[in-house]
Amino acid sequence: MSRLNLTSLRKMKAEQNKIAVLTAYDASFSHVLEQAGVDVILVGDSLGMVIQGKESTLPVTVEDMIYHTSNVVRGSDKVFVIADLPFMSYANTDQAIQNAARLMAQGGAQMVKLEGGQVVVDTVKQLVERGIPVCAHLGLLPQSVHRLGGYRVQGRDDQQAQQLITDAQALQAAGADMLVLECVPAELGSRVTAAVEIPVIGIGAGVECDGQVLVLYDMLGLTPGRRPRFSHDFLADTGAIPAAIAKYVSEVKSATFPSQAQQY
Ligand code: KIV
Repeated sequence: MSRLNLTSLRKMKAEQNKIAVLTAYDASFSHVLEQAGVDVILVGDSLGMVIQGKESTLPVTVEDMIYHTSNVVRGSDKVFVIADLPFMSYANTDQAIQNAARLMAQGGAQMVKLEGGQVVVDTVKQLVERGIPVCAHLGLLPQSVHRLGGYRVQGRDDQQAQQLITDAQALQAAGADMLVLECVPAELGSRVTAAVEIPVIGIGAGVECDGQVLVLYDMLGLTPGRRPRFSHDFLADTGAIPAAIAKYVSEVKSATFPSQAQQY
């Protein structure tokens, strides 16, 4: 069985079929997610918080990412797998190429994700020219949490919003094949989605994005503390993990998730 690929994901955007994405970090959940109809698994550096219990994603290493990505790849055979380049693993182009190559060759990822706008455009170009598919992450950038002063909604003023659209277009021009857009007003999520041809996957970016992603442990209600407004406890609705994932997939596909209450 071959895995979903970028051509199919682009077609899903063109045909307005929503893309259901969740994070996962191990083989068992990878299997459950695939069986429930998830299209894409993101091996996020959120594992630093939800698996390792750290305060942020900053301590996650390339070795951690390779280990968890290889587990996810072993547990599935149809989903498209994206792996995060962790904090400072792409601080310069040579580092980015070496670490992305390891995530693909040793981890088995089909695409790598990195955070940032204009500042990573050249890195994206260099990776893509070497055959490495890239997903760029805009909006709230968890690896910059200390500079941003916390996990806050981004792009609220006109200048920030316009910059975000310009960044999305520059990343697409550099060869990025996907965007993750985190924690921005729904109206801006809609504008970014319309401004690029590549799929835009939202997390707290409104229902108009081409797809949605959530951190698995958040949407199962397992993460301690206050759940972000854009998430929802699907396990509380259904009482069983496979049913919770299937409900998420169904609500993403029918554009009933996120609801008004789950967007900014
Ligand atoms: O690390 C992660 O899980 C992510 C999502 C929040 C999109 O980047």
